[in-house]
Amino acid sequence: MSPSSPPARPLPGPFRSAAVIGGTHGLGRALALAARERGLRTVVYGRSAALPDADGLLPRSLDLCDPQSVRTAPVDVPSPCYVLWVAGAFLKKPLVETTEDEVEQLTRLLFSGPVLFLRRLLAEAEGPVHLITIASSSSWKRRERESLYCGLKAAQATFVRNLVPELLAAHPENRITLVNPGGLAVPDFHTGLALDFGAMMDPGEVAEIIWNIAADQRRAFTEVQILRSREPGSEGTPEVSYGARVPQTPEEPGAATATGGTAPLPIQHH
Ligand SMILES: NC(=O)c1ccc[n+]([C@@H]2O[C@H](COP(=O)([O-])OP(=O)(O)OC[C@H]3O[C@@H](n4cnc5c(N)ncnc54)[C@H](OP(=O)(O)O)[C@@H]3O)[C@@H](O)[C@H]2O)c1
Repeated sequence: MSPSSPPARPLPGPFRSAAVIGGTHGLGRALALAARERGLRTVVYGRSAALPDADGLLPRSLDLCDPQSVRTAPVDVPSPCYVLWVAGAFLKKPLVETTEDEVEQLTRLLFSGPVLFLRRLLAEAEGPVHLITIASSSSWKRRERESLYCGLKAAQATFVRNLVPELLAAHPENRITLVNPGGLAVPDFHTGLALDFGAMMDPGEVAEIIWNIAADQRRAFTEVQILRSREPGSEGTPEVSYGARVPQTPEEPGAATATGGTAPLPIQHH
């Protein structure tokens, strides 16, 4: 938080702690720091988690691509707690150029690893859990050479929606927030791509928005889009809207009507 920022709004409810899967860098770290500012005992998971942590976070080593690590990493998070599923990496490549190992590793990182680890965290939790999941606007946007990444992000979003009934059956105060962000100014995530990070969203600002949404959430489930403005003069400003989005048509914009297919969806801002 910068010296001029308003103080973090306290979180309502009984929550004492937060476990951030992928809390060592980028958006996950920003979410973890904002959790700590709100008085939560905050555990951060990642491969590079190491003691001591200068920011007062509690690091726990976890490699989501290593089944043994997913089975054995500590899940000693005091209940009731927030659980944040943030870890990820990007891959932009045509499927035929993607190696078997890349498919396996990205699937573990973005889907099967977190699902198995979440299974352990939820089994251990006593009292209510508020699960905050960072999927992506790539779960519904038309992209090129990103089929594996987009497919896994859509799987994450669908998995979490369908977890809602059983989480509510387990505890009526359980909550789930599904967040689909657009482009974030996290250069490490977009390694090798020449992007204008000045026109992308600040992860610290997005983390504050996410915690404020979580604090205000009264319903069991909320899905939110946090997309960057493309308006000249306010490029990169986060724009928040609620609810799921219909997947964009995979054809070139306008091509669907020309070939007699379904009408293209209205253009939506990222
Ligand atoms: N950046 C964007 O434009 C953007 C847009 C929409 C959605 N998202 C989503 O937001 C999430 C965070 O992205 P970011 O931009 O903050 O990326 P980032 O800075 O690269 O952070 C990725 C996080 O995932 C962790 N991680 C990576 N591999 C891991 C592994 N094998 N095991 C455990 N943890 C692992 C990293 O920790 P270690 O390195 O310590 O393992 C790090 O904490 C991702 O799920 C991404 O898909 C990003």
